[in-house]
Amino acid sequence: MTGSIAPESKYWPRKRYFELYDESVRHPEEFWAEEARQLDWFRTWDKVLEWDLPFARWFVGGELNASYLCVDRHIATARKNKVALYWEGEPGDTRVLSYATLYREVNRCASVLKNLGVVKGDKVALYLPMIPELPIFMLACGRIGATFTVVFSGFTAQALADRINDLQAKVLVTADAGYRRGSPVPLKRTTDEAMDLSPSVEKAVVVNRAGLDVEMKSGRDFWYHHLLSEASDHVDPEPVEASHPLYVLYTSGTTGKPKGVVHSTGGYMVYNHSAFKWVFDAKEESVFWCTADIGWVTGHSYIVYAPLAFGATSVMYEGAPNYPDLGRWWDIIQTYRVNILYTSPTAIRMFMQAGEEWSAKHDLSSLDLLGSVGEPINPEAWLWYFKHIGGERCPIVDTWWQTETGGILIAQAPAIELPPLKPGSASFALPGIDPQVVNEKGEPTAPGERGLLIIKKPWPGMLMTLYGDPERYKEVYWSRFPGSYYTGDYAIQDEEGYFWLLGRADEVLKVAGHRLGTLELENAAVAFGPVAEAAAVSKPDPVKGEAIVIFAILREGHEPSSALEKELNAHIRSTVGPIATPERVFFVKKLPKTRSGKIMRRLLKAVATEAVIGDVTTLEDGASMDEVKAAYEALRKEI
Ligand code: WT7
Repeated sequence: MTGSIAPESKYWPRKRYFELYDESVRHPEEFWAEEARQLDWFRTWDKVLEWDLPFARWFVGGELNASYLCVDRHIATARKNKVALYWEGEPGDTRVLSYATLYREVNRCASVLKNLGVVKGDKVALYLPMIPELPIFMLACGRIGATFTVVFSGFTAQALADRINDLQAKVLVTADAGYRRGSPVPLKRTTDEAMDLSPSVEKAVVVNRAGLDVEMKSGRDFWYHHLLSEASDHVDPEPVEASHPLYVLYTSGTTGKPKGVVHSTGGYMVYNHSAFKWVFDAKEESVFWCTADIGWVTGHSYIVYAPLAFGATSVMYEGAPNYPDLGRWWDIIQTYRVNILYTSPTAIRMFMQAGEEWSAKHDLSSLDLLGSVGEPINPEAWLWYFKHIGGERCPIVDTWWQTETGGILIAQAPAIELPPLKPGSASFALPGIDPQVVNEKGEPTAPGERGLLIIKKPWPGMLMTLYGDPERYKEVYWSRFPGSYYTGDYAIQDEEGYFWLLGRADEVLKVAGHRLGTLELENAAVAFGPVAEAAAVSKPDPVKGEAIVIFAILREGHEPSSALEKELNAHIRSTVGPIATPERVFFVKKLPKTRSGKIMRRLLKAVATEAVIGDVTTLEDGASMDEVKAAYEALRKEI
């Protein structure tokens, strides 16, 4: 393991952390009740936890409202004048919302939704670019008790329709367009296509972002600014029971169908508020910038809910990091005097590749703390981030978590006690979180030995279920190691107890930090006429972490060609989205399979990465060494 860097190791007698941690896992219910009391409740819970394995209900009987926590409770204090949101559009336009003005916008938006007939329990789909209306609609839905799903605005009409249909959303919110690399990306057109496929949508609200001329279907489509003119300035926040679903967020799994991760209101808000406080060590004056898109869970938790519930100032940027040039992010940090920057290893590697001259031109002295999320950070990128962005003065919190976990589970927690930093390790579990690295049999591995990461206790931020599919929820997360939550990640715990997260152990890829299921990609590939069968694997990529490689068998009458490869790429891109664009396609005659018919993925991966045969022979389950060797040789010869 790499040595440690300890800018503030004098703060690591481990006393405070261990005291708090031990107490939290010894008496979790008392511990979480104490955390929950830091939020405002309309009614106190009767019971902290009802654990009907694997279904948890936190703060049973407690009533609260997420939008009340994020806005109302601050406007009664001096924070009403504080900036809640600094927003910057890609073209350079800006909006600054104080807690008081955010309150007004959220109320008016809630009124718009009510006037459209949306009531508690209804489902709303949000397909918006990174504009202030996105958090405003999220907060407004929560205000009236409607459960929403945000669909990443880079997703295709089909992907949008699938999510709307699964959720049976009644209202869809979109914009005419959003800016990306200098031009407006039309969204209304995509939603029109999606609405043709999703009959549950009764009404669509369209935000005017770019002044585009769009087609509006009378009686179904409404401009948001028109609806606002009829809206009231006040809508009471609807108290909801703690387990009321705040949102559903779809994420990729090992089948072709995305999983609808259901998050509660009470447990989710409590957990996020606490994790934010521990990990980011925000002060009243801190300006916090999470660069994620709100289409992913990171943006939900760390642009919207945690910073606002905490009463911090959150920054939101609409566009591409390299528009108009690679100095854009550093300019934003300089302009808003950002103190805490939370971003992904992919972004860091991109900047690292471009060279430090871009950040060097800007004043980054306001930064106090840096964060990383979404994929393992390689020590080289870590060191570059530490040196060139953090000026060797800012600790880096490497935060491990998942869409399903709601908030950060493993990370440095400087607000408690900052451990010596080891580049590439997320360090320790947050209070109340009980992770363990185990082997296939569920036995704890020895220090330094690779195994699978499980979480042994429920925590308030965990998903409640998969939308409409409790069986799949049980099967995916709770069947492999009965009684424990299975993360799907490989990990190592070193001699000093530090966790090293090593990537996915299942058929899930992380491309530029985004999660994609191999089967989703394979389904998209075989939906392309000439392809009879396909397998998707990944290979390491210096910037994106992983890149997609497709092995495809063509139908009779089709010959491999680079034109066909391009068409297949374009097809996958338009079915799943631009993030799913393959890096490479290999047309093959046969896909190597085990006797039970399973594709030998690890072998394909080895071929894609040009690994040597020695690395793969022992890896494939259910196949003999000779079979793997023969399949490998055959494939290598063919491509
Ligand atoms: C997967 C979850 C967590 C929000 C964004 C991604 C990987 C995440 C780290 C990290 C190593 C990480 C894991 C995890 N991952 N953070 N700090 N170090 N790996 O959420 O799309 O649900 O993906 O991202 O493999 O399982 P997600």
